[in-house]
Amino acid sequence: MNYKAPKGTFDIFGKKAKIYEKIESIGKKIMKLYGFSEIRTPIFEDAGLFTRSLGETSDVVQKEMYIFKDKGNRLLALRPEGTAPVIRSIIENNLAQNNSVKLFYTGQMFRYERPQAGRFRQFHQFGAEIVGTQDPISDFEIIDSSTKILKELEIEYELHLNSVGCKVCRPAYKEVLILFLKDHVDELCENCQTRLYKNPLRVLDCKEEQCKLVTSNAPKITDYLCEDCKTHFEKLLNYLKKSKIEFILNPRLVRGLDYYTKTAFEALNFSLGSQNAVLGGGRYDGLAEELGGKNLPGVGFASGIERLVTILENSNKTFEKEHKFMVIPITSLEFDYALNLTSELRKYISVLFPYDYKNLKSALKLAVKSDCSYAVLVGSDEIRDNLISIKNLENGKQKSFSKVEFLNIINNERCNFGL
Ligand code: HAM
Repeated sequence: MNYKAPKGTFDIFGKKAKIYEKIESIGKKIMKLYGFSEIRTPIFEDAGLFTRSLGETSDVVQKEMYIFKDKGNRLLALRPEGTAPVIRSIIENNLAQNNSVKLFYTGQMFRYERPQAGRFRQFHQFGAEIVGTQDPISDFEIIDSSTKILKELEIEYELHLNSVGCKVCRPAYKEVLILFLKDHVDELCENCQTRLYKNPLRVLDCKEEQCKLVTSNAPKITDYLCEDCKTHFEKLLNYLKKSKIEFILNPRLVRGLDYYTKTAFEALNFSLGSQNAVLGGGRYDGLAEELGGKNLPGVGFASGIERLVTILENSNKTFEKEHKFMVIPITSLEFDYALNLTSELRKYISVLFPYDYKNLKSALKLAVKSDCSYAVLVGSDEIRDNLISIKNLENGKQKSFSKVEFLNIINNERCNFGL
């Protein structure tokens, strides 16, 4: 029996793994500049955490959760998203005691979806949450920092923005929307004919052409916002404008999870086909209370790392190469010295030592196969004069440096040895 990675999952290694690492390191760097710190929550949680928070009628809860009972008969779910676990942790560990808290996370999420380009059953999100404040500055910071990650990765996007109201103003809008949709019920897809009563806002988000046509004339939620939601939205738009962050107001933008209030946003990249959201998020002021905590308003985002990776792979964007070296004894007489030097250089650079060393020629071949950029050759001259001899494995050119010179080049000149 040959085992394969389960449907909708894949292994990440080689060049791809480097792109993941790059995205996560840029994400972490930017979030730290905004004062966020990292949180890691379990990959599985009490299943109720998600059914409670994401909405009974959401696709994720209805069809996409990986639910199982453990040997202690506990009903658990692999996390389909990161926000509910973060809020659970904030409540459980009292993390937002007297102050708001800013947390970021990265890791696997699981949704039993129909796999297609950009949509997997195991995928990675990079996300962040600000919890404990209603200040629209926090909405602004979430949008500003998340889109900064896209900018630094040179990923093009269109930022779509909406307010989905709150429990004060949304019920009235829902009624108006249901009345409108009822008049067009025969024109809606089968799915939306049921959504119309259970979760009418989701009809606005339907990708079917016939539904898009109907909803293009639907009443807009932004015309029904209460004073509080309206002011909040206006302030956010103002901050974005002042910071010259471009956005498109999209009154049909509703998110797939039910916990959202006020701000909702998505960044879209149109090279991706139908799964074009590279990140999404918004405000969720009632979520902590829904999960048994005190009133802790929050706002956050999550980005699908696989989608970012696909864009970067297609664009052939190159990141600065991280050079690998192989320290090679010219004869077995220099073996011990070379082994020592390897250990010394590993304080500064990535160094391999040739396994099963036979001679210089076979070790050089191994260095090329192992994707090394340079060989550090150790012969009797190098030992006698305390030199570091570097061979460029692409063009065969060679040069010797004193140890001080060598360390200066790797620390300050990005391994530019002039070879
Ligand atoms: P979401 O829109 O469900 O929001 O997911 C965020 C991002 O994860 C999407 O924009 C997409 O890039 C990626 N994504 C979602 N499902 C898949 C999949 N099956 N395969 C690949 N990528 C996928 C959330 O998860 C919210 N927790 C975001 C949030 C944080 N809202 C407030 N705070």
